[in-house]
Amino acid sequence: MSIGDKAGSGDGEYERGLCVQQLAVAYSGVPAVRGISLDVKAGEAVGLIGPNGAGKSSTLLGIMGAIARTGRVLVHGQDVAGLPPEKVVRRGVALVPEGRHVFAELSVADNLRLGAVARRDRAGYSEAMEHVLTLFPILRDFGHRQAGLLSGGQQQQLAIGRALMSDPDILLLDEPSLGLSPTAVDTVFEALDVIRAAGKAVLVVEQRAEFTIAFCDRTFVLHDGEITLTLKPEDAEKVDVLTKAYFG
Ligand SMILES: Nc1ncnc2c1ncn2[C@@H]1O[C@H](COP(=O)(O)OP(=O)(O)O)[C@@H](O)[C@H]1O
Ligand SMILES: [Mg+2]
Repeated sequence: MSIGDKAGSGDGEYERGLCVQQLAVAYSGVPAVRGISLDVKAGEAVGLIGPNGAGKSSTLLGIMGAIARTGRVLVHGQDVAGLPPEKVVRRGVALVPEGRHVFAELSVADNLRLGAVARRDRAGYSEAMEHVLTLFPILRDFGHRQAGLLSGGQQQQLAIGRALMSDPDILLLDEPSLGLSPTAVDTVFEALDVIRAAGKAVLVVEQRAEFTIAFCDRTFVLHDGEITLTLKPEDAEKVDVLTKAYFG
């Protein structure tokens, strides 16, 4: 029985995590995402890879309710149809957008505080802050520094930390490795591993195919708005062949 069936029956115990069914997005009638379905369960990391323009960002924005979509998005088995992004955040979903978008003029600490605005549970604020500062010690060291002065890797840590301040169960990330040094990429993915192990559901969009396939429990290849392939970690070694076959 799928999560969707359960959601309809109202019989209680839903599987924790994200379930996307037949998600479609179009811009002025031009399809960008053509009916894709995927699950991310609590404690799993799922990858979504594909070339520029494949529809990766549109998928994440569609899930958040930031752009018009069709299909169903279930959060812990509950349909979030019609909810604007801020309400989707309150259901426990957070997006780390492409390009990070930290508030450059504000301090690191204030960026993190802003992330807490969407918290469902105000009481857990201090714990959440401590958790983020333990996960990313550089954010503690640089708490008073202007966010715009951080390196790209540090800003990515801040963007993830800010998303975690809303206490999400489901974390969506749009190309977190973009423009980062190899060391910074390692730092980010080590943190994602900790976040996954803590029982959160992680959906990560990437262009770095091999790295993502190796890291994630499952990785979907998106091509022109459709999922064309599902890969397991052991497929990472075959990626040269896959890249040629599926990215052209
Ligand atoms: N705001 C927009 N208006 C019109 N077309 C868009 C917009 N955003 C994305 N697109 C188009 O939708 C398709 C998918 O884009 P996107 O989801 O950004 O892909 P990806 O993140 O995989 O690079 C592309 O053809 C892109 O040009
Ligand atoms: Mg994109």
